[in-house]
Amino acid sequence: MVTSSTPSDRPRRPFSGLHRTLAAAAVGLLGAATALVAVTAPADAAASTLGAAAAQSGRYFGTAISANKLSDSTYTTIANREFNMVTAENEMKIDATEPQQGQFNFTQADRVYNWAVQNGKQVRGHTLAWHSQQPGWMQSLSGSALRQAMINHINGVMAHYKGKIYQWDVVNEAFDDGTGGRRDSNLQRTGNDWIEVAFRTARAADPAAKLCYNDYNIDNWTWAKTQGVYNMVKDFKQRGVPIDCVGLQGHFNSGSAYNPNFRTTLQSFAALGVDVAITELDVEGASPTTYANIVNDCLAVSRCVGITVWGVRDSDSWRSSQTPLLFDGNGNKKPAYTSVLNALNGGTTNPSPTPTPTPTPTPTPTPTPTPTPGGGGCSATLQTVNSWPGGFQTEVTVRAGGSAVNGWTVKWTWPSGQSISSLWNGTQSVSGSSVTVRNAPYNGSIAAGSSTTFGFTGNGSAATPTATCTSP
Ligand code: XIL
Repeated sequence: MVTSSTPSDRPRRPFSGLHRTLAAAAVGLLGAATALVAVTAPADAAASTLGAAAAQSGRYFGTAISANKLSDSTYTTIANREFNMVTAENEMKIDATEPQQGQFNFTQADRVYNWAVQNGKQVRGHTLAWHSQQPGWMQSLSGSALRQAMINHINGVMAHYKGKIYQWDVVNEAFDDGTGGRRDSNLQRTGNDWIEVAFRTARAADPAAKLCYNDYNIDNWTWAKTQGVYNMVKDFKQRGVPIDCVGLQGHFNSGSAYNPNFRTTLQSFAALGVDVAITELDVEGASPTTYANIVNDCLAVSRCVGITVWGVRDSDSWRSSQTPLLFDGNGNKKPAYTSVLNALNGGTTNPSPTPTPTPTPTPTPTPTPTPTPGGGGCSATLQTVNSWPGGFQTEVTVRAGGSAVNGWTVKWTWPSGQSISSLWNGTQSVSGSSVTVRNAPYNGSIAAGSSTTFGFTGNGSAATPTATCTSP
């Protein structure tokens, strides 16, 4: 049966920096004492598997596992060698674990769980409350009966795995792709508070598990859906709803392409005080560059705890025709594999997201900061960074004058009926055409002469009114 694994604040760190330093020191002493010692493996040697490479920075590298493939030795050999975190691809979903109301079945889920822990891996639980892959009985429920069924389901599944799951995807895919509001579903129709009820239930059921909200198309920072989820997490943190992590599925393809602002997204969620994880990564065509960029984005964010790819070989992928994974159908390493491994091995620092070829000195529309003469105060400048019919995106640079600023307030008036649809890295209040934005809890302090930015998407035609900045 299951052996216990101890969820921790962070996945285990077999090769932490400290260990590597001590190992290096030990090797040095030995080498000095006996000139005979041939040092074959320098302490900082590149790791040769994804899991070991990720562990060098305290992160994990995982994969989705299917119970029905555990008899395929090519599959299990690769999976066991390369990954140290496992997500059941389908076996822990609602239809699998509670096929009849009140009758739980963990046969398939336990096959995946047991394979993982018997091979020294940790497990992400996926998923407890979702509009999809519901059993028939749940699909036909509504209102308070469905709400209660959701609570019972969370309690039933989490009790079975109590203390054994590193992170649970408590709620999956609850936001609408277009509007950034909630997705319509039978669960949503039980009341807007269904998500927080799910999280509170989950915390009580297994206080040791990290509780995640998980979704797709929340990678691009400028997308309304990203902002919708961001605002929910922010609200949950402010109101004390128990949430520990955000899972970004990371299904990248032509309709949902990787954008370098992914790093901003990871950083912004993390700044709310949650861990972030890339939970179901696949990239149409498996571009080695895109895979490396994604890995480097995670490595650049200290609260990005790990990456999970959604399957082992291309032939195992739910989107196999896109050949989006790291191993081909024969189990051979693809160029993307090497690219990911290299990124993980070099990735204890924070390389820049895209090695931007230095362009011909573009006259960057540099906001002209006007540091208040004589020292104090701050200045703010709006800059349009993107626009489309009926909407635009603005970045606002807030710069401290000759003295450090601790808390800032930026104000402006819209010239022709513009409005903010979503704002990040600040808190806004609006009165008619007057906008006031104050610092977020984490970016109020600016050193003398330094700057911070906040941003927003707006409705209407792009405008850059003059803003004032004051600091208390
Ligand atoms: C997919 C599985 O990979 C498929 O085998 C299954 O048929 C459908 O679900 N988002 C999620 C995952 O959260 O659970 C989905 O997994 C892929 C999209």
